[in-house]
Amino acid sequence: MKTLRVEIPDKNYDIVIENGLFKKLGSEIRKIYKGSKIAVVTDSNLYDLYGTELNDILSEENYIPDFIVVKPGESSKTIETLEHVYSKLALFNITRSDLIIAFGGGVVGDLAGFAAATYLRGISCIQIPTSLLAQIDSSIGGKTAINLKEGKNLAGSFCQPLKVLIDPEILLSLPEKYIKDGLGEVIKYACIKDNNLFNFLMSINSKDVLFNNIEQVIYDCCNIKKRLVENDEKDTGERMLLNFGHTIGHAIEKHMNYQVSHGEAVSAGMLHITKNSENLGYTEAGTYEKIKNMLNHFHIDDHSNLINQDIKKYVYLDKKNLSGEINLILLKKIGYAFIHKASLADAEKFIN
Ligand SMILES: NC(=O)c1ccc[n+]([C@@H]2O[C@H](COP(=O)([O-])OP(=O)(O)OC[C@H]3O[C@@H](n4cnc5c(N)ncnc54)[C@H](O)[C@@H]3O)[C@@H](O)[C@H]2O)c1
Repeated sequence: MKTLRVEIPDKNYDIVIENGLFKKLGSEIRKIYKGSKIAVVTDSNLYDLYGTELNDILSEENYIPDFIVVKPGESSKTIETLEHVYSKLALFNITRSDLIIAFGGGVVGDLAGFAAATYLRGISCIQIPTSLLAQIDSSIGGKTAINLKEGKNLAGSFCQPLKVLIDPEILLSLPEKYIKDGLGEVIKYACIKDNNLFNFLMSINSKDVLFNNIEQVIYDCCNIKKRLVENDEKDTGERMLLNFGHTIGHAIEKHMNYQVSHGEAVSAGMLHITKNSENLGYTEAGTYEKIKNMLNHFHIDDHSNLINQDIKKYVYLDKKNLSGEINLILLKKIGYAFIHKASLADAEKFIN
């Protein structure tokens, strides 16, 4: 078992990472929650795979779980699904002293986290992430949100969880394409903060090797995110380093109407911006090649054919960029990222 403590004043919490932790969830939760009622928010894929067992595990610890099951996928991060979750919480008579569990990928984590942040002005929430992306990223740091028709993650809140419980073995049932998606984000962590992790990832030559080491890989990524969140909870400074690859990545996602996975879009974004920043002299020579080799290594499509005028248009339409300045995240070299504040005209050189 590996534990990391996220230290944010008045909101400290543990991230526990252990193969096989799923079977011990009851006792892990008991360490921090003495009540009895739990609303478990999950999606139907996870409910079908683990619902009965999770119900038994929680009941054995004398908890009374009620499951709120939503449709899998991004289409559940809506105000309508949120309303459905609120209604179920009311039906189950959940009070402020009860607990919400988010059991699922980033969609469930964001939706349940936002419900927990807002229902009755705030209920404790434990995140039990089940996708690689959720285990290394979305379950940590307290960002919760739903999408509006006007855009992604537009309604949300910062709300730190009570605890994050990660069982890497649960990834064995995660479809391959989502493993790849999460790997895009793992590569991002290595690029921005951890050259050793980058080298290690390059040495992985089979799924078995990946899974034999996944606990450590998840730990390394969570450790990077924890440190960034501790230094900058509200995402106005160093935490922005996590956006490496995202300026172009988001534009690709919008251009493709979200038919390309987030991890692949971010990977393409990392590669493209590094190509330009290297040409402009901001990045050590050879860095672009290293990232390209890494993406090839994991068979992640770099979508270089998509970088065109339309992509640039989306970058400029991005609400975050309307103030006339863009915070571009660049690499000095692998393992060292920095924020480059660019005017829109300056930014064009990095996006071309
Ligand atoms: N809050 C944050 O800081 C943050 C950070 C990054 C991403 N996000 C959000 O995360 C979301 C994407 O998360 P995601 O990629 O996990 O998507 P997701 O939650 O839709 O999960 C992907 C798919 O995998 C299935 N799944 C998950 N775990 C499984 C398992 N162990 N076995 C079998 N199937 C499993 C789900 O049912 C779903 O079909 C986006 O909405 C994004 O905005 C949030």
